[in-house]
Amino acid sequence: MNKEMAQVLTQTGPDTAMGNLLRRYWVPIVSSEEIALPDGPQVKTQIMGEHLVVFRDTQGEVGVVSEFCSHRGVSLFFARNEEGGLRCAYHGLKFNRHGHCIEVPSAPEMCSKMNIKAYPCIEQAGLVWAYMGPPEFQPAPPELEWSTLPASHVFISKREQECNFLQAMEGGIDTAHVSYVHRFEVDRDPMHVGTEALKYIKADGNVIFTIEKTDFGLTLFGRRNADEAHYYWRITQFIFPWYTLIPPFGHHALGGHLWVPKDDHHCWAWSINFHHDKPLSDQEVKDMADGKGIHVQYEAPGSFRPKQNMDNDYLMDRKAQKNKETFSGVFGISMQDASLQESMGPIQNHDEEKLLPTDRAIVMARRMLYEAAINLQEHPDALPALQPQSHHVRAAGVILPKSVDPLTWSKENLAGGLDRPLYTI
Ligand code: FES
Ligand SMILES: [Fe+2]
Repeated sequence: MNKEMAQVLTQTGPDTAMGNLLRRYWVPIVSSEEIALPDGPQVKTQIMGEHLVVFRDTQGEVGVVSEFCSHRGVSLFFARNEEGGLRCAYHGLKFNRHGHCIEVPSAPEMCSKMNIKAYPCIEQAGLVWAYMGPPEFQPAPPELEWSTLPASHVFISKREQECNFLQAMEGGIDTAHVSYVHRFEVDRDPMHVGTEALKYIKADGNVIFTIEKTDFGLTLFGRRNADEAHYYWRITQFIFPWYTLIPPFGHHALGGHLWVPKDDHHCWAWSINFHHDKPLSDQEVKDMADGKGIHVQYEAPGSFRPKQNMDNDYLMDRKAQKNKETFSGVFGISMQDASLQESMGPIQNHDEEKLLPTDRAIVMARRMLYEAAINLQEHPDALPALQPQSHHVRAAGVILPKSVDPLTWSKENLAGGLDRPLYTI
């Protein structure tokens, strides 16, 4: 990828081409439980280079506002959350969830001039989502399958990843790597173990992709050999601009990710598991909370930095690597991915990469994002996945006779939304 394209794709701050594109979509900011209580503790976070404070006001409504007081720039992380707003700890200016300044104790007449930035937000699927783009383009709320299910059916965790969102997200698009880095982990992991899928994934590491461009992004059809007469197809989706779905593993919960830039050198990696038709079992929830499957353990309570991180070489275990307990020496599916993606540097040097045929989906995703970002001014409405109905897609895993075209099969068996049967082995 040339320098100019790499720069466009990896720079997401305010007034960058990619930043403007990403801000046209609803952005997951924090989980609702981080700000569970009205007038409870606010949290600070960073999204696409912007410092934000998120709080639940006296009425229980959520505010997503600029972190810094309009007076002399003090962080509202230190503010008092009380009586319908945040009161800056320094000189007592007060802001409501719309960012309006509602009190300037020393100069009440200045109130209307002291507003801070605030973003419209919604709560859905246990997350606080904000819309950070131009008001005239605010889209309808997302309708990804996991974002519309009852809370009992869904488990979501978040972790901080120390690299640009693009190279992290590309790991979610690139399902070819499962045959390698996750090879041994999946035999033990409770969210993957005991499925027929693994037999084919392991036997055939040479996945061949057919990729279809759609109104939401891309559908990837990954082909592996099953037997003489059949292929095993893993069908998965990249939904604009940062969602990936994981091909299913037997009866286990479905999964997906989303990757939001924190700044250009860090991202928020959200990991989602769900059953489309029933609650998660207590055991599944326990396993996920313990960091199994695509979830992780954390460095400290309240921290989103994983316990395995670059400062401790991700708790690399060379003996386990030698003994084929873990392919790379790192344990845990998400930390296997994160360790490799962080090892590329905060922003991968795209000048040096030499792409292979298995990277075709990544190339297409990059191209779609780049073109949408560059053309945003001239074609502000021609963006994929702005219509929530377009999110109604589900990953699948299916064995088909070699003569069957998977695109035709998927039009007949998957199209038309989420009311279709789940295809999984
Ligand atoms: S800096 Fe916030 S009130 Fe003075
Ligand atoms: Fe992975």
